[in-house]
Amino acid sequence: MKNIYLILTILFLFFISCNEKKQGSSDKTMAVTDISKTQSEGYTLLKNNCYACHSVTSKSHNEIIAPPMVVIQRRYKMSYKSKEEFVEAVTDWALNPTKENSLMRGAVMQFNVMPKQAFQKEDVTKIAEYIYVNELERPEWFEKQFYNEQSNGMGKGMNRKN
Ligand code: HEC
Repeated sequence: MKNIYLILTILFLFFISCNEKKQGSSDKTMAVTDISKTQSEGYTLLKNNCYACHSVTSKSHNEIIAPPMVVIQRRYKMSYKSKEEFVEAVTDWALNPTKENSLMRGAVMQFNVMPKQAFQKEDVTKIAEYIYVNELERPEWFEKQFYNEQSNGMGKGMNRKN
């Protein structure tokens, strides 16, 4: 009985690998290379433009000057489900951060509004796409400390009276 399953599995794997070979045209290989190129470009831009403040290397919650990007990612995904909406929202924000447009009132209260900086729209769009698609680094203290406090903070922000 066991052997039958084994043979079926092998046949199945064989079938899959044949199928993949058929589809593995040069087009597909190109697309994959393109994606990883944009990916690493997005990450470099993120690191150079945003991680000075949205750092993942601060030792503790007390040392940070802005929420880690992973917290922003989580919050923005709650409001903007599709990639297009998410990218547009993050890009609009980074090009023109104002208190009125903020989703993270708790963060504004804690850190003040993000200073307006001279980012290129094209760069920020790539950064926003990267943030949408990827798992971001989490500071060591993130789960146990910041996330709990942040979710309380967000709760308060959402229940604000005005
Ligand atoms: C000079 C420091 C600094 C840099 C550099 C910076 N930010 Fe911020 N950012 C902040 C601070 C402080 C906050 C938290 C207060 C707030 O929400 O405005 C913030 C908040 C945000 C938010 C949440 C806004 C909200 O309240 O809804 C987004 C999105 C964001 N930043 C994106 C970016 C992106 C993308 C970059 C890089 C292109 C970037 N930031 C670079 C300081 C910075």
